[in-house]
Amino acid sequence: MTEQLVILARPGFEQRAGLLSGELGIAQIDQNLADRYVGLALVVDRDGVGLQLLGPKPPGPVYCDFVGGSIRHRRLYGGGKGQDIAKAVGLGHKGFRPRLLDLTAGLGRDSFVLASLGAVVVMVERHPVVFTLLADGLERAREQALAEPELQSILERLKAVGSSAADYLSCLEASQLPDVIYLDPMFPPREKSGKVKKEMQLFHQLVGTEADDADSLLPLALAHARYRVVVKRPAHAPHLDGREPGYSLKGKSTRFDVYTLKKLP
Ligand SMILES: C[S@@+](CC[C@H](N)C(=O)[O-])C[C@H]1O[C@@H](n2cnc3c(N)ncnc32)[C@H](O)[C@@H]1O
Repeated sequence: MTEQLVILARPGFEQRAGLLSGELGIAQIDQNLADRYVGLALVVDRDGVGLQLLGPKPPGPVYCDFVGGSIRHRRLYGGGKGQDIAKAVGLGHKGFRPRLLDLTAGLGRDSFVLASLGAVVVMVERHPVVFTLLADGLERAREQALAEPELQSILERLKAVGSSAADYLSCLEASQLPDVIYLDPMFPPREKSGKVKKEMQLFHQLVGTEADDADSLLPLALAHARYRVVVKRPAHAPHLDGREPGYSLKGKSTRFDVYTLKKLP
């Protein structure tokens, strides 16, 4: 048994998998040999690029999905600008539609929620495999949105960049500074691994918890946002970088810490 990250092509998708293998420097394995591997695989199939656990009876892959399932439900029935995440970034304040920078984009769910409520969002993700999933999700969504103008206009407000936060910020000119910077760094899971959602489990395995450098993101963000920095944390987690926010919006499992730099316009 070999434990490593591999790329697995379903029949008919070998060419795309080969391209990804070259881009990411990750070995492509033959589908028939998959049971010799444990660990994680990027699976390329008709649904796009997904992340999957290998091993006996593996659960299905996780994709970045901006169109269906829970993200669609939240877009249509999710509480709009009354949601804590929206209030935290200032959406709804006298028609304020922030230019927002999400420096820890992951699979882009939070960014999508904010874009669907009117924010214009740049999503920055440094992990090449996570960025591959994100970019694939965005591309598929753009194809599927051709028949759905509302979704199309949300996607026009979303852009993905593969970069570390620090590198991205170092290239910004003063006129390009975002109104709001949003941070949601990884946090070690509190529940036993069996109970943690499948997607979180895969993510922790792939990306780790990054607890060490997450703190450094806050001072960096505070130096580059115009109005505020918002940090998403588990409800009982300590403040990022040990810094007390101006105020927090607390939900059952999640908290949004708001660091105010300037009053919203
Ligand atoms: C908890 S996930 C974010 C989930 C996201 N909010 C969502 O709704 O899908 C954190 C992500 O931030 C990325 N990340 C962490 N530190 C980063 C940095 N310094 N620059 C860019 N991305 C970073 C990680 O690779 C990981 O994918």
